[in-house]
Amino acid sequence: MKELSLHLLDVAKNSFTAGARHVEIILEEDGAGWLTITIRDDGRGMAPEFLARVTDPFTTTRTTRKVGLGLPLYRLTAEQTGGSLDIESEVGVGTTVTARFQRRHLDCPPLGDMAGTIALLIQGSPDVEVLYRHTTPRGTAELSTEELKEILGDDVSLAEPEIFAWMQDYLTEQEEQAAVELPPASLQGGF
Ligand SMILES: Nc1ncnc2c1ncn2[C@@H]1O[C@H](COP(=O)(O)OP(=O)(O)OP(=O)(O)O)[C@@H](O)[C@H]1O
Ligand SMILES: [Mg+2]
Repeated sequence: MKELSLHLLDVAKNSFTAGARHVEIILEEDGAGWLTITIRDDGRGMAPEFLARVTDPFTTTRTTRKVGLGLPLYRLTAEQTGGSLDIESEVGVGTTVTARFQRRHLDCPPLGDMAGTIALLIQGSPDVEVLYRHTTPRGTAELSTEELKEILGDDVSLAEPEIFAWMQDYLTEQEEQAAVELPPASLQGGF
């Protein structure tokens, strides 16, 4: 996939499909190019036997086609940068998917449109509480639907197009302020 945000959209969607009431999406970047993406939910979880096979493309509970590719591709992308994927899950409790990427690696896709992706996830499931936080050495972009609902009151739905536009703009501005510059591709390498 061309952008990490598209992978994230795919993997976070699993949390919503699993009936989560709360989804946390946490991105942490250090000064050395390492990015950790943690997606934590309180959805239905996975049994140990299923979990052991879940990054194999033939493991799916989909009924429309036989292969599930979200997690296998996510793992592949993380590993291609020298990083890793780790999944912890408990039936009836929830799931945590942690991926590590080396952003300076030539095979690491760009971050993509995180602001639009998060706004889209929230708009699509306005009743699920989402906490998004992206921390870099330069700053933090953050949005909490619980806080937003407190400010907006009960009359406004997070599915409204105006709210979508607002969330996207709000996060875009914060993302721009927190963005870390990566060295140009010609100076990358050594991994
Ligand atoms: N957060 C989660 N909670 C519960 N089950 C999950 C979670 N994430 C994945 N799964 C289970 O693992 C399976 C494989 O997930 P994966 O994203 O790889 O493929 P998919 O969702 O089936 O298909 P695709 O992502 O290609 O549309 C899912 O069908 C689902 O049963
Ligand atoms: Mg999926």
